[in-house]
Amino acid sequence: MFGRERIEYKTAEQVVAMRRAGLVVAAAHQAVRDAIAPGVTTADLDAVAGQVIADAGATPSFLGYHGYPAVLCVSVNDEIVHGIPGPRVLREGDVVSVDCGAIVDGWHGDAAFTVVLGDADPADLALSAATERAMWAAIAALAGGERLGVVGDAVERVVEESDEPYGIVQEYVGHGIGTAMHQPPDVLNYRTHDRGPRLRPGLCVAIEPMLTRGSRTTRVLDDDWTVVTEDGERAAHWEHTVALGPDGLWVLTAADGGVAGLAPFGVEPVPLSDIG
Ligand code: MF3
Ligand code: CO
Repeated sequence: MFGRERIEYKTAEQVVAMRRAGLVVAAAHQAVRDAIAPGVTTADLDAVAGQVIADAGATPSFLGYHGYPAVLCVSVNDEIVHGIPGPRVLREGDVVSVDCGAIVDGWHGDAAFTVVLGDADPADLALSAATERAMWAAIAALAGGERLGVVGDAVERVVEESDEPYGIVQEYVGHGIGTAMHQPPDVLNYRTHDRGPRLRPGLCVAIEPMLTRGSRTTRVLDDDWTVVTEDGERAAHWEHTVALGPDGLWVLTAADGGVAGLAPFGVEPVPLSDIG
């Protein structure tokens, strides 16, 4: 549930610092997108992201987090989130979700994307597209919303308007982010009676819907990390770190600040210098 723990509202300067972390995450994503292909291992992708983060003088957020052993989470096919990179060789048609976090001067950025490799099943492409759309719809909803519950409304609406009865994962949610990767408030991807905390300037949240092609029920593998769909159906995960300002929002982990992703929703991110 949303809870009512203390939220860390950020100043304009702090949001600018978070943008630096966000840009490192965006660069790591781009490098992984360039490297990802059938025949590549998930550990190869981890090395690529680790190099980008190190070259930027940043620190990976995930490595060592509650003992997590890698820079990325790479979750393939029925894996939803928290897949551990390793010797697994990626294949044509795989649905691959890549999640990356980085720290700059103590401030975190966190983002994820899904790609379908090579000869893709159109149903998998549609799953990833719906999940990405749910993320952007949720971010756009923050721009005009009163309370954080608009995120769950937006994700549910995208699923309702799609042709497929996608499952919306409930056990894993978005989160506040700043001087730690995970902060209050929780950001639910489904509707509840509780409308959540009021949206106000300085709120920084990671918006991260996870959709499945089957039931929303999840299970954790024996490695104690990898989250899979219980029914074995495929899943997708998209995430961005977003900052709210007095005049609008900025997508800190998008290279363009969210301009392209928000345009279809009629939302324009404000210049970063105007956030406070
Ligand atoms: N992006 C994931 C999240 O938002 C990262 C957690 S992976 C962990 O929760 F390995 F660091 F735990
Ligand atoms: Co996250």
